[in-house]
Amino acid sequence: MHKAGKGIWCTMLRMSKMGRARTRKTKQTAKTYGTVITYGTFDVLHIGHIRLLKRARALGSSLIVGLSTDAFNVLKHKEALQPYKERKAILESLRFVDKVIPEDSWEQKKLDVKKYGAAVLAMGSDWKGKFDDLKKYCRIVYLPRTKNISSTGVKKHAATKYIRNA
Ligand code: CTP
Repeated sequence: MHKAGKGIWCTMLRMSKMGRARTRKTKQTAKTYGTVITYGTFDVLHIGHIRLLKRARALGSSLIVGLSTDAFNVLKHKEALQPYKERKAILESLRFVDKVIPEDSWEQKKLDVKKYGAAVLAMGSDWKGKFDDLKKYCRIVYLPRTKNISSTGVKKHAATKYIRNA
């Protein structure tokens, strides 16, 4: 073979090997799961929520948030400062949240998992073990809760400051 032709052939071979190696690497780092679903009230969005949502999203290729409605919060004995509509709009504006659906009962998780084809249910570690009965429908992941922050805490702290500054 002519010298120049041999050179081109070698370069092409090297490139195809590099391509194969790159494909292998992409396969290794590819997302393991599809849709991830999580639930919560997400009132006065704080860093604990952001970390939970980002980590939940990183488990798959899309993230659905089941957002507790105002009526469901009453059932849960939770008082949200922001109404459902505002909490929903805030979550929808996050790049790592793909869809927000209403959560209005404890029992809907199984149906949601089936309806949206969720491969993973991700919850904060404060819920550890509570949803293990759903293991037959999807993978259950409990993500570590961020320490020293909660919506209740933020609201209490803000109220104290507000009163002190008034
Ligand atoms: N979460 C978290 N870390 C925190 C607070 C919440 O990972 N510091 C997670 C929860 O475990 C849950 C989700 O965020 O999976 C939504 O929690 P939510 O109950 O809305 O937040 P809290 O701040 O705990 O609210 P509250 O004080 O009203 O209980």
